Amino acid sequence: MDGITTPSQPNNLEAFWMPFTMNRQFKKAPRMLVSAEGMYYTAQDGRKILDGAAGLWCVNAGHRRPKIVEAVQRQIFELDYAPAFQMGHPAAFELASRLVTLMPGDLDHVFFTNSGSESVDTALKIALAYQRAKGEGTRQRLIGRERGYHGVGFGGISVGGIVTNRKFFGSLLTGVDHMPHTHDKAHQAFSRGQPEWGGHLADELERIVTLHDASNIAAVIVEPVAGSTGVLIPPQGYLQRLREICDKHGILLIFDEVITGFGRLGASFATEYFGVMPDIICTAKGITNGTIPMGAVFVRKHIYDAFMNGPEGAIELFHGYTYSGHPVACAAALATLETYQEDGLFQRAADLAPYWEDAVHSLKGARHVIDLRNLGLIAGIELEPLQGQPTKRAFDAFLKCFERGVMIRTTGDIIALSPPLIIEKSEIDHLFTTIREVLESIE
Ligand SMILES: Cc1ncc(COP(=O)(O)O)c(C=O)c1O
Repeated sequence: MDGITTPSQPNNLEAFWMPFTMNRQFKKAPRMLVSAEGMYYTAQDGRKILDGAAGLWCVNAGHRRPKIVEAVQRQIFELDYAPAFQMGHPAAFELASRLVTLMPGDLDHVFFTNSGSESVDTALKIALAYQRAKGEGTRQRLIGRERGYHGVGFGGISVGGIVTNRKFFGSLLTGVDHMPHTHDKAHQAFSRGQPEWGGHLADELERIVTLHDASNIAAVIVEPVAGSTGVLIPPQGYLQRLREICDKHGILLIFDEVITGFGRLGASFATEYFGVMPDIICTAKGITNGTIPMGAVFVRKHIYDAFMNGPEGAIELFHGYTYSGHPVACAAALATLETYQEDGLFQRAADLAPYWEDAVHSLKGARHVIDLRNLGLIAGIELEPLQGQPTKRAFDAFLKCFERGVMIRTTGDIIALSPPLIIEKSEIDHLFTTIREVLESIE
């Protein structure tokens, strides 16, 4: 036990195996963030870093918001933990009741998780169990999409379509098909907002249904806007068509709104923005403004009701997490919702979106840029890869931006931007000017 109070080894960078990181590269030249406020991080060397990524698409209200900080402090002081199995605490019920008011129609029940990955696994399990509960147990197949990102659980990587996230991990879930992704530069490059071309790609779902027969298919899962793969905006009519095909065949439609939720598009959720209602919605990230890990899965009433028919004395769904509805996460989420509302942040994002769009497309003609994509306060800047060295050019841009006090995120050779919704126009200008200058300066 002595090692706990008297470390036998000096503090160093070696022990922490960092996620989704080039560990050896990082540990040679670490980029450490030590504090944050509003739109800015502070690096260990004292420099202010403009946050162009809302952390990881999660800090939608900006950093260290007093209301959220205070709510968390208060909650820990009062009730640090309470089990969620066969027990409850008031904040979880209050939060669920508040959350469902943000949803359209009868998406009126919430299952709490601790992350986007858990929300996805939860949604897939609910979809399968629902089909069985209503006597359609042959519906076991799941359909995802190429280039989809649904977190890193086995369910999520099985329906996901990012090759590097799948290929090292064995045979994954069986019974999964993938629709094609919706991006085609020849038809869509430099589209502002939703591309006109590509709505027909939803008809690929019909082909898969014909192959397997609808009686074998439980659910389709998509990100309304694909984020982690490098920002793919759904073509006009695409999501509507997916909904129609799912309705026609009795297939559940799941929207993974882990990044599009909580104002990112200038509406509460993508379901509202696109006017398309799925049966299940996965959320996380912005639910607590990134302050405390939390996720939530919303389901429509008929799904919840299908589980409530068995004997009263039986557990209806054998699923849950030790930290489902954790009191501190609930307190953070309640304060986050209040912050979003008080500051009118979803509307603010909507109001800023045209300015953002112009700023994104001002990079047309900038060095290395081969495509620009935008929606709400999201941007994708696709770079021509360096010959024989995929991802290097974008990563160099990331490093150079960081040196200049701007944090961007890259995936492959694409820069993905998603700033906190409190960003000012002058900061948008600074973000894109820095990126332009950096692109001029790198090979
Ligand atoms: C659409 C989507 N789903 C799921 C996840 C996974 O979330 P987490 O990292 O919280 O598990 C992410 C994370 O970026 C995401 O963008």
